[in-house]
Amino acid sequence: MAEVTVTMDGSQASGREGMTILELAQENGIDIPTLCYRPELPPVGACRICVVEVEGSRTLVGSCHTPITQGMVTYTHSPKVLETRRIVVELLLASHCGTCFVCEKANVCELRKIAADLEVGLPRFQMRKRYYPIEDISPYVQRDLSKCILCRRCVRACRDIARQDVFAIAYRGFSSKVVVDFDQPLDKDVCRDCDVCISFCPTGALSKPGHIGEEKKGKPLIVTG
Ligand code: SF4
Ligand code: SF4
Ligand code: FES
Repeated sequence: MAEVTVTMDGSQASGREGMTILELAQENGIDIPTLCYRPELPPVGACRICVVEVEGSRTLVGSCHTPITQGMVTYTHSPKVLETRRIVVELLLASHCGTCFVCEKANVCELRKIAADLEVGLPRFQMRKRYYPIEDISPYVQRDLSKCILCRRCVRACRDIARQDVFAIAYRGFSSKVVVDFDQPLDKDVCRDCDVCISFCPTGALSKPGHIGEEKKGKPLIVTG
């Protein structure tokens, strides 16, 4: 495979034809945050948290799905890049439900970790929030789509790794949603002994039954720490 040389943050980096900017950065120890990307899944470029600057490009580009080219000059942590990533996170947090403090996945939530890394606190923006009832019919997977950031990891993981294709994206714009069949609550026998989608979800939107939504079920909240 042909070697491709790129200037990344002022240093020369050599990759192979077909590699993305993100893969080359990772190979060179440069940390670019990602949300919708997972190495096991085909990239979709849904979240835009991984944007970088490329000389000659009018707009920032998504590093997870942009291939490197010979002589490319890219900046992964320029002020413009960092400010854009902060805005992306703020918008996600602003449209997210306000129950992060009592979320069972708080300590492992990738959205919260990226927000902390980028020093994003309370969002400056006021946005409509999506509220959905918790789906707890399935004995295998619970969904709290108020916490969904539409990264589509569950859609791809169920299809490409669990080989079941239970999920799809429906509706447009603000109403976009991960649906099952014709927007029915998740309740599938194929989910028995499978928690692939749960392990791929970067937020508290998917969990094992009995672990989410206490705040919405009228049970007393116990906040520690
Ligand atoms: S538990 Fe497995 S089969 Fe069920 S929706 Fe998730 S990934 Fe698909
Ligand atoms: S449910 Fe989780 S994995 Fe699926 S799109 Fe929403 S945040 Fe992503
Ligand atoms: S991680 Fe690249 S667009 Fe989401």
